[in-house]
Parts: sequence; C-alpha cells; structure tokens
Amino acid sequence: MPQSQVEAARLADGVWRQARIAPSGNPGQVILDGAMVVRDGLVAWIGSEAELPAEFRQAGLAQHDVGNRWITPGLIDCHTHLVYGGNRADEFAMRLAGASYEEIARSGGGIVSTVRATRAADEDSLFRQSARRLEALLAEGVTTIEIKSGYGLDLPAERKMLRVARRLGESYPVTVYTTFLGAHALPPEYKDRADEYIRLVCDQILPALHAEGLVDAVDVFCENIGFSVTQSEQVFIAAGKLGLPVKMHADQLSNIGATQLATRYKALSVDHLEHLSEADVAAMQESGTVAVLLPGAYYFIRETKQPPLELLRRYRIPIAVSTDSNPGTSPSTSLLLMLNMSCTLFRMTTAEALMGVTGNAALALGKADRHGLLAAGRAADFVVWSVESLAELAYWSGLNPCSAIVRGGRFAAV
Ligand code: NIG
Ligand code: FE
Repeated sequence: MPQSQVEAARLADGVWRQARIAPSGNPGQVILDGAMVVRDGLVAWIGSEAELPAEFRQAGLAQHDVGNRWITPGLIDCHTHLVYGGNRADEFAMRLAGASYEEIARSGGGIVSTVRATRAADEDSLFRQSARRLEALLAEGVTTIEIKSGYGLDLPAERKMLRVARRLGESYPVTVYTTFLGAHALPPEYKDRADEYIRLVCDQILPALHAEGLVDAVDVFCENIGFSVTQSEQVFIAAGKLGLPVKMHADQLSNIGATQLATRYKALSVDHLEHLSEADVAAMQESGTVAVLLPGAYYFIRETKQPPLELLRRYRIPIAVSTDSNPGTSPSTSLLLMLNMSCTLFRMTTAEALMGVTGNAALALGKADRHGLLAAGRAADFVVWSVESLAELAYWSGLNPCSAIVRGGRFAAV
C-alpha cells in the first residue's frame, strides 16, 4: 500500500463492541464482554461493555460489531533481516546435500553471498524485493517490525539498507524500528583484518548512520563465525557513546560468552540462545534482558539443540518470539507460523507464544511504553481474529484467521 493509500485508509474510529479482548496479549488476562473506543488514532477507552461510559453511548459514533471474535494488540516481529537482495535457495540445496550452515559460511558463502547481492541491488530494487516479504507479514496482523542492516558491510550499502527499512515504514501501515548490524560478518575486502573492520564500524559507519537518523539500536553477531567477545564489546562501547541500546545474536551455534557480554551492557535482548547456560540466564535476570527465540532458524538449519526453555521460565525471563526473516537461516514471512513452531519445536505454551509476539516483543524492542498493550491513550494498533480461542493463533499453520487489522486507528488492508 503506497503512502497516499496509508493516509487515505479508512478510519477505524468508533466503538468496537461484542469483543473478547486480550489487552496485553496475555490469554490469562482477558475481557470477555469487551468494548473498545478508538478516536484520533488512539484507544480512548477499553473495558467491559456494560461499563462503557455514557459519552461513548451517544448516537453518531460508528459502531463495529466484533461478533464475539477476539482482539489482540497488533503483532510485533522484533527480530528480522527483512531487507536484502537475492535469495539463497542454492545454498539450501547444498545444506540438504549435507553441508552445514557453518561450513558454507567458512567457504565464502552464507551471509557474504547475500552481501554481494545486496550491494549490487539499487535502492528501488531492494525496496521492491523487501516489500513483498513485508506485505506477507502484515497480512497476518504485524503492525510493528524491527529490521536490521548487516548485508551491506560498508557505509553506502548499510545506508541503503536502512533507508529502505525507513521507506518501508513510511509506505506501509507498520511501525519500523531499525537496528544497525554492521558487525554481522566480515566483508571480503577485510579478510584477516577483523579488528580493522570493527574499528571502521565503530569510528565511521555507525556514527555516520546514527547522525542521519537511520539507527534505533545496535546488534552484533557474536559467534565463532561472527565476531569475538572483544570485538563485539567495541561495538557496544561505540553504541553506548551514541546513547543507542544494544542487542545481540548470541549463543546460536556455540557459547563463547556472548550473553555474558550482552548483559554487562544491559542489552535489550539476546536472540537465538540454543547454547545458553544457566549462568547466562541468571545474568539476564539481573540485567532485565529479554530472550528472543527464533524457531524458524532452528527449524531451517535443522538445529537439534533447543534453547533452555525451563531455565528461562525458572528465572522468569520474558520470552519473545520472532521470524528472524532472513535468506540464510529463516526465509520465513509468517509470524503465525513461528507461534506454531515455538510450541511444537520448543514446547512453549500457546499463551507464551502469543505473549512472545505482543507484550514481550515490545519489551525486546525497549518499546513497551508504545506497543504491545491496548489501553486508554495508547496507539490503536490491533487485530480482530476469527477464532474461537486464542490458542488457535498458534494451532493453525497456513490458515490466516485475521479478520481486521487496525494500525494507528486506521484500517490496514487484510
Ligand atoms: O539470525 N546468525 C546470523 N544472522 C542470521 C543469519 C543471516 C544469514 O545467514 O544470512 C540469523 O540467523
Ligand atoms: Fe537474526
């Protein structure tokens, strides 16, 4: 939907009644005879329909009969690499023939092959390639998304990616938060000079992009095939100097101390976490860091080690779930499918899964004051679902039960 259409989209103002509402996405806290008043892009009132204040009962206000369907906050996809050129179907074939993700990366494929395709694409082509993925996500009720850079790995190409991410947010009914992931892989021209590349990221690329208003947070791929703890720390220090929050691709393929570092820098989230230890989880509790689980990547690279869900529960760590939408480990554009997979693959409950894409995903972005909760004065970002129970949001795979999506108080195309 181009910008002109976003502005022209029909207002969703009025009283939404006969609704079952989960205001925070938590199926344990619901309003069964709910009503919600939408005005000027915001929720003006929410509660039990019997208590709807007289001022909202007057004739003239638009009435939206929800027919006992469920309303949740708009979904939040808090970890994506949505903007990139090309795809890696050829690499998928290599992995099916026996090569591992790590082997392909070490032999010059993997992330670096997407870097080549992304550098080669002009901004409009990159926009078009990414827009169709975004459209698929939005059709399932996503109203907020995080998009990382990290396939440019030099100033012009990282800038191009982040500009495309911002443009997507201006062109579609979705709030986009950008994350700078310059430390995603070593660009080929810096072979054997990782420290030098990290200096370039910290001293030049990040400050320049931040000055252009293109960066909301900073991420690092801290891993044997990514960057060391020492190098990652340099990036965190640079982010701190600019007042930017940090997050980390941590403990995906091995445990080299990524989460320990991230928690020392009060990271918003650590993401992947298959190799997380109990000491890491304890540190996360201390620093208030959210665990972001990415079942699409676990599934697609045929990982067998599971993230330690019981430990995360025991330490009461908020758990978010996301697509990780990217060409190498999770070419997925369905957040609902991720709900399903987080339950089937990780044994999360359907309630945990839903909180993982609403309230806890907002926490992972450091934006819980703006997203993931329907309350008076908050943005009217919500989805009406044609389901009998909220568990169905994680139960189906392939069925899209969205019956209306409202973002910023306007109807978004379903
Ligand atoms: O989240 N692990 C690092 N980054 C991505 C994969 C990127 C790619 O393979 O293109 C991830 O899994
Ligand atoms: Fe990722």
